Amino acid sequence: MLLSLCFLVGNATMIIPVETKSTGLYLGISSDQKVSQIYFGRKTESFDELNKTLNGTKSTGNLYGRDAYSFWGNGNVLDVALQVTHADGNMTCDLRFVSQKTISISPDIKETVVVLKDNYYPFTVSLHYKAYFSTDILEVWTEVENQENKNIRLDKIASGLICFDAPDYYLTQFSGEWADEMHMTEEKLSRGIKSLETKKGVRTTQSESPSFILSLNTPMQENTGEVLLGALSWSGNFRFSFQVDQYNKLSIIAGVNDFNSAYTLEPKKKFVTPSLVLAYSMQGSGNASRNLHTWARKNILRDGNTVRPVVLNSWEGAYFNFDEKKLTDMMDGAAELGIEMFVLDDGWFGNNYPRNNAKMGLGDWQVNNQKLPHGLEYLINYAKNKGLKFGIWIEPEMINPQSDLAKKHPEWIVGSNSHREPLTLRDQLILDLTNPQVQEYIYEVIDRLLSTNKGISYIKWDANSHVQNFGSSFLKPEFQSNFFIDYVNGLYSIYDRLMIKYPDVIVQACSSGGGRVDFGSMKYHHEFWPSDNTDALSRAFIQWGTNYFYPTMATAAHVSKTPNHQTSRTTPLKMRIDMAMTGRMGVELQPSDLDSVELKLLKESINTYKRIREVIQFGDLYRLASPYENGHSSMMYVNQDKTKAVVFAFSTQNHYKNETLKLSLNGLDPIKKYKLTELNQSNGVISNRSVNNQVFSGDFLMNFGISITLRFQGESIVYELQQVI
Ligand code: DGJ
Repeated sequence: MLLSLCFLVGNATMIIPVETKSTGLYLGISSDQKVSQIYFGRKTESFDELNKTLNGTKSTGNLYGRDAYSFWGNGNVLDVALQVTHADGNMTCDLRFVSQKTISISPDIKETVVVLKDNYYPFTVSLHYKAYFSTDILEVWTEVENQENKNIRLDKIASGLICFDAPDYYLTQFSGEWADEMHMTEEKLSRGIKSLETKKGVRTTQSESPSFILSLNTPMQENTGEVLLGALSWSGNFRFSFQVDQYNKLSIIAGVNDFNSAYTLEPKKKFVTPSLVLAYSMQGSGNASRNLHTWARKNILRDGNTVRPVVLNSWEGAYFNFDEKKLTDMMDGAAELGIEMFVLDDGWFGNNYPRNNAKMGLGDWQVNNQKLPHGLEYLINYAKNKGLKFGIWIEPEMINPQSDLAKKHPEWIVGSNSHREPLTLRDQLILDLTNPQVQEYIYEVIDRLLSTNKGISYIKWDANSHVQNFGSSFLKPEFQSNFFIDYVNGLYSIYDRLMIKYPDVIVQACSSGGGRVDFGSMKYHHEFWPSDNTDALSRAFIQWGTNYFYPTMATAAHVSKTPNHQTSRTTPLKMRIDMAMTGRMGVELQPSDLDSVELKLLKESINTYKRIREVIQFGDLYRLASPYENGHSSMMYVNQDKTKAVVFAFSTQNHYKNETLKLSLNGLDPIKKYKLTELNQSNGVISNRSVNNQVFSGDFLMNFGISITLRFQGESIVYELQQVI
């Protein structure tokens, strides 16, 4: 078995282990107090023997970036994690080990802190490693406190650095664009730096994602091989650099993007980087991905142990064009279908500048009297009488120039002091969240909305622009480049306050679809809207990529009308239903637009979803067939005690007549017997009579498998597996 040994730094006098159930990160302290990463990968019981192999090895210092946390100014010629300008203008660092401690946060979580100090300046850096034992996850971040007597500037401060030494490195990135997010591309890394980054400031995960898969030795495989899944918990600009050096060693440096972000830190102030989340596995990306999901549900995602309701969102069924009657009709239909939450999307506010399209009203959060003369209360009560909970859309960070707020507070707008023509995106500008007054205003808007309308139990938090007009009229000139970081921290501080006051309100990270799908944002949300594209075939790819990192239960997936509004494609209702069921199922149409046969199928499937959703929302996800390979996509979910599972298969293209999809199931108990029942039968037609209602052992299903025939693009099948005694 190839271990990724990294790095052989000489004369280690002490080794600091950071370990989970199966993973180990070992840091070495050399006799000259330099801290290096000796090894990261499969946990070893005999790490002290590593030390023996180091004896006699001449210290290479940090010439080739082999530090646990590399810094600029002491001979390092590779990409570095830290660059600082001290109070006296000196731009170098020489950090040496001071102390380390490991604290037990819970039986499952330990945090190791390694403190480094500059050997001249009163400048201390602490490296934090939080190890989640059972899920094999490491969280890595860095903290700096300015102990100098004037401002210092953090020109670059990464969250962490991880090194490998393997023959080959394969990097999978997740990228795309609006309505086409999280596409996977794998490439073999060659010499030099490959960097993944965004400079958008807001809505940062739509075209790039702060997540990557690194596969060592071979291209990424689902069930075998050495892989690292990494993700940054940050909803702003990020940068990952992957540098293969002249010795074919790889350093990964990840953190906030340093572009235009040299951070001025006042004396006594502390800077804490976002955490870099690392899931390492020797059993392929599937294992690491399941570990990430379990970890996120337990530790990050809001209420990750609570069943998610079935939602009807008004957007695609009404857009801006509604009145009370249209909405109450929608609620009637939703209640009839068995939906649990009705969400009123954009268009409900603005009077001087009525929000009848995207051009005006954003910022003016008063109910539009013409559309909704009886206010929100009437709609909330109507929903309640129908047995529905009520949710509402809001885009509090953004503003239309055509709004009361823009006229009243032009100084609150990002870029307003730049004396340049403002660039709008979707006719909107961004509010300056670095300004505490603006933070307060946004907090109050939402607080007022929720406290005066007690029946609101869900918020869809949108953000449809990224930063195009850089600059803040609040920040002093020497702090301008703090903008990108302070914006995100300002946003998080609003969320923090709201979470305390409204712990039971469900919050969706919508952000234009796919714009805030990251572990930083997940701390404040119960779910995310992975894409504005509701086409089930597109979602086969978008959700596939998204769910490598981010849990299924948080992935909002809605059944919408055909032809699809984003792609104009027509797909069978069954496929749209089946795809929505692979995540947090919802509906996004006017129910009265469906005929009675469609309504019956949708109603039955919502009922079925409610019965099986715990397996999907809390179960382990096994990917069986990739949509990137042979025109089929298939995945299954298995509950924790392996008594229940649900298998989904989709055809993403047409196939030859005799082509079948051979599926070897996964994650079952080989000894248990399972009965297979086909779900969501369209018009009562059972697709695969051969296995429907049959009983098989887990062993058979995993080793021999089942064959499914899905010939045409848009065909799909769902099996429920239940243990029989
Ligand atoms: C973009 C979102 O992603 C959509 O779902 C919808 O809420 C619109 N904004 C509303 O303007």
